[in-house]
Amino acid sequence: MENPLCVSIFLILCIFIQSSVHGQSLELEPFGRGSQAVETNETSQETETRFLLFKDKTDKGCQIRLNHPDTLQQCAFNSSLPLVMIIHGWSVDGLLETWTWQMVAALKSQQVQPVNVGMADWMTLAYHHYTVAVRNARLVGREIAALLKWLEESVQFSPSNVHLIGYSLGAHVSGFAGSYMGRKHKIGRITGLDAAGPLFENASPNDRLSPDDANFVDAIHTFTQEHLGLSVGIKQPIAHYDFYPNGGSFQPGCDFLELYKHITMHGLNAITKAVKCAHERSVHLFIDSLLHAGMQSMAYQCRDMASFSQGLCLSCREGRCNSLGYHARRGRQSRKSKSLFLVTRAQSPFKVYHYQFKMQFINQTEEPLKVNFAMSLLGTKEEEQKLPITLQGGITSNKTYSFLITLDLDIGELIMIKFKWENYQVWANVWKVVQSFIPWGRGTFHEKEEPVYSGLALKSIRVKAGESQQRMTFCSENMNDPQLHPAQEKTFVRCEANSKKLKQKIR
Ligand SMILES: *[C@@H]1O[C@H](CO)[C@@H](O)[C@H](O)[C@H]1NC(C)=O
Ligand SMILES: *[C@@H]1O[C@H](CO)[C@@H](O)[C@H](O)[C@H]1NC(C)=O
Ligand SMILES: *[C@@H]1O[C@H](CO)[C@@H](O)[C@H](O)[C@H]1NC(C)=O
Ligand SMILES: *[C@@H]1O[C@H](CO)[C@@H](O)[C@H](O)[C@H]1NC(C)=O
Repeated sequence: MENPLCVSIFLILCIFIQSSVHGQSLELEPFGRGSQAVETNETSQETETRFLLFKDKTDKGCQIRLNHPDTLQQCAFNSSLPLVMIIHGWSVDGLLETWTWQMVAALKSQQVQPVNVGMADWMTLAYHHYTVAVRNARLVGREIAALLKWLEESVQFSPSNVHLIGYSLGAHVSGFAGSYMGRKHKIGRITGLDAAGPLFENASPNDRLSPDDANFVDAIHTFTQEHLGLSVGIKQPIAHYDFYPNGGSFQPGCDFLELYKHITMHGLNAITKAVKCAHERSVHLFIDSLLHAGMQSMAYQCRDMASFSQGLCLSCREGRCNSLGYHARRGRQSRKSKSLFLVTRAQSPFKVYHYQFKMQFINQTEEPLKVNFAMSLLGTKEEEQKLPITLQGGITSNKTYSFLITLDLDIGELIMIKFKWENYQVWANVWKVVQSFIPWGRGTFHEKEEPVYSGLALKSIRVKAGESQQRMTFCSENMNDPQLHPAQEKTFVRCEANSKKLKQKIR
């Protein structure tokens, strides 16, 4: 286990496939149909799942029981408020994870609309071999559906007021609950937090969480990185809106190199914690949206992360963007899933501000130039200093470069860009290249004119801000000199109003 890849493969195998604790054999038979791992006790009408309600941020939950209306009163269920129910996932240790309590507290503390906060505790069915837990997921879904139907019949509580939040295997439990409700009693909303991948990837919509399971289904994918053809979180879109933070495969701050250090230091205990990092990030992104009402992370519909990284997808037209987490908007829904992308920070608050920058360099050498720039952005509120820019594949003739820049800070409206060709040493090499490709002499210029470098000129910088949807154009402050000079900072100012005139001048 000398390299991080080995470690990660080991982790996936350890966490998802094998659970030697229970000594069960590894049987990857189709789940759900036929053999039921646990039978419900129909006569007692007791559910295997414990349903808890939380009165305040800190209590450990009050159990409500199917067909016992008195428990609703005891637990202060308020039928005129929505019900948000948390559903945990598969368990390796039989304990509720700390995030569940954080989620309860966050839901209780949000001010927009008070809600009943509940939890479906199916630990006795989740603390098994993964494949057994997967089979049990259907049963839990059916029990949740039974509870919701009972609420509808006994206290006229409409399922459309229910929001299920399921993590990992719990996401598919939510989906099963939704499908057992049937079309006439559709659940209002289901949120799938990094829904489990193994045994669900490429399954038919009936066998996993799908947009059919609720009026509004949203999913956050945070750990879809594949090893041995398996990924912990499901890759395929499974919702009306599928959010892929940082591309969805892996998350910043969850590096396996870091993890490896932890393992050598803290032994195997660190493993579960670390492998959960990216998987559980979905949960913390969601909690973050509850705790930072004024800092909602915006995500944008895009084909893939590669296009998103080029800044090509920052549009909000026709429902193409949505905020990630609790405050996601339903919008007009088609049955087709929308895949949305965004960048996040490594810790809370996770929000960043997305910008697309488009630049066209003119008068190029034939050889691609590998150059580094530093850009400083001056906004009405803040200034962001010296962001490093490296253009993919170097600069070639007259090509327009489009790339994504993300800022942790809200700089307000962008008013000025300072652009600097970094690193004179690099430039000196470039200069030689330029000289060898463009043989020119001073004689070709008019006598009165200053000699100019005929290397790199930046015509204009076009910017689109994702969060404000504002489009801006910036031109060189000194319009007579569009050339970039080595190690010299060039200031670009807004020039939309007279951009045509400016362009003509620059030409
Ligand atoms: C079902 O519940 C009843 C009453 O609680 C109990 O007497 C009975 O033994 C249970 N049956 C099973 C199969 O667990
Ligand atoms: C239930 O919630 C409603 C709306 O917030 C409130 O007016 C009412 O007092 C609550 N009922 C109880 C019993 O707390
Ligand atoms: C482009 O290069 C030519 C000579 O190679 C020069 O005359 C011209 O001014 C340059 N144009 C710009 C915009 O730099
Ligand atoms: C780049 O654009 C300039 C002006 O628009 C043009 O004169 C020049 O031929 C172009 N160069 C290439 C390599 O296309």
